[in-house]
Amino acid sequence: MVEIEAPRAGCPGLARLEPGDEAAVARLFGRLTPESIYRRFFSPISRVEQFTSSVLRVDQHDRAAVAAVAGGEVIGVAQYSRAPGACTADLAIMVADAWQRQGLGTRMVAALADRAAAEGIASFAVDVQGDNFGALRLLERVAPGLRLAFSAGVGEGSFPIESHR
Ligand SMILES: CC(C)(COP(=O)(O)OP(=O)(O)OC[C@H]1O[C@@H](n2cnc3c(N)ncnc32)[C@H](O)[C@@H]1OP(=O)(O)O)[C@@H](O)C(=O)NCCC(=O)NCCS
Repeated sequence: MVEIEAPRAGCPGLARLEPGDEAAVARLFGRLTPESIYRRFFSPISRVEQFTSSVLRVDQHDRAAVAAVAGGEVIGVAQYSRAPGACTADLAIMVADAWQRQGLGTRMVAALADRAAAEGIASFAVDVQGDNFGALRLLERVAPGLRLAFSAGVGEGSFPIESHR
């Protein structure tokens, strides 16, 4: 992990994930309920190796991940991936269940947007289940005015990213 924002006053920090962060990411798997995993991956995941390899497929250019970190432990990840050179990247987020609704999802998306903008990415695309009220609220907050097109209970949309720095 490479620190982006130091933790302060009990508030988790942010770090860039690297391919070698397998052990920390594997422990995050144990902090997610099956429902949160399903919300993030749209399918159940039973093997931790499947989880870590999906999260750590990063090259810091077309695929990157920002983690929330507390006490050295990964408690959330926001990541993007794009086809090489594309100007839109897919966005995915997850926060350990015990840490949800504390602003971490919003912070991670802002930090990831900065990284993405630096790589020439102009917009994030999202897929979200229609009854995923937490993710829908998060998207309202980070992308006001986002219109999702729904099909088979899944909303799809994209929004321009802004660099915050
Ligand atoms: C969706 C998710 C990433 C949100 O992360 P988070 O850290 O809890 O989000 P934040 O604390 O930044 O909250 C952002 C807004 O959403 C609201 N919110 C978060 N969870 C909520 C919930 N379950 N129900 C209703 N509102 C919720 C917050 O109150 C906040 O609203 P506000 O701006 O009015 O204060 C997290 O719940 C999660 O990991 N869910 C499982 C995986 C998932 O659904 N991923 C998204 C699909 S890719």
